[in-house]
Amino acid sequence: MEKIKQVANEMEAIKLLTIALEHEWAVSLEYIIHAYSMPKGRFFYLDPVMGISMDIRAQTIQIGLDEMYHALQLGLTLRQMGVVPSFKTNEIVRYPLIRDNLRRDKMTEDLVAELYQSVVFLTDDFPFLENMVRNIAGDEVRHSRQFQTMIDSLAALGANQVPVFRSSPEAEEKSEVKLLHEIMRQENDLMHRYLFYMLLFSHHQDLSQRLFKNSIDHMRHWDKNSGLLIKMGSVVRIEGAVMGQDGEERSVSPMPSSYPEVGRHQALESLLKEEKDIVDKYERILTLVPGGEIKDQLSFHLAQNREHLFTQEWLLKNTRQN
Ligand SMILES: [Fe+2]
Ligand SMILES: [Fe+2]
Ligand SMILES: [Fe+2]
Repeated sequence: MEKIKQVANEMEAIKLLTIALEHEWAVSLEYIIHAYSMPKGRFFYLDPVMGISMDIRAQTIQIGLDEMYHALQLGLTLRQMGVVPSFKTNEIVRYPLIRDNLRRDKMTEDLVAELYQSVVFLTDDFPFLENMVRNIAGDEVRHSRQFQTMIDSLAALGANQVPVFRSSPEAEEKSEVKLLHEIMRQENDLMHRYLFYMLLFSHHQDLSQRLFKNSIDHMRHWDKNSGLLIKMGSVVRIEGAVMGQDGEERSVSPMPSSYPEVGRHQALESLLKEEKDIVDKYERILTLVPGGEIKDQLSFHLAQNREHLFTQEWLLKNTRQN
């Protein structure tokens, strides 16, 4: 992560926001990927803030969601300053051991908490921005303490050498698994495409809230599908990842980095087209999986996407009228 020590003018304020945004986009995906690479309900820790025993995996997902909200706050602030935010991100990594992923998560928390707490504002022109980064710093300090306790608990459980899930070669050969990976790529794209237009049209309160709602649905589909992949003998992929010699995967493009800056009409058309496409894919995958939990979950995603199709068609029709 790049460093910025002080903010004296608008250009530096934008630089701070951009550096922070690249971090927040990265960790919002990275934590959730780390979570879905470890078993559910197996490793617990006593949360230092909440005071109860928590599943490490479940809380890592929650922290990932906090990061997405941080990214949105930063993106909205940039947009208010006249900048169109990008989805360029810092590198994300998955190590072969659960412990090493948690250590990395703790390390990135400390880095960003330091940035938010130490940056000096030499001007009184950005009181809300200063307040916002100090507030976000509070979340990061909490996350850091939570990750540290997770790391200590994993060690105390004798689980330091437990590896992350790896997909089995047989599972990867199955057509339903291949298709689910394709769906995952598109869910990732749709989640961020909606977020982009939500930020781009943030002055249009009604439209932007509707786009946000659909983005959250796609984020949940991506998240739930990650759990389904494990049940199918596979594991969530990191887009654009390269595997190193020690088995660690690294990617600097875990999500599409930009979307075209177009008007409302074209934006809604592109969303509608993608919704139709993902509905087709869900309809296809449902013919490939047997009845049961996986099928039920996929059917629910299909249903929500049909709802999106209805909404998007309606929104598009209304842009034609004005
Ligand atoms: Fe954050
Ligand atoms: Fe954080
Ligand atoms: Fe959708």
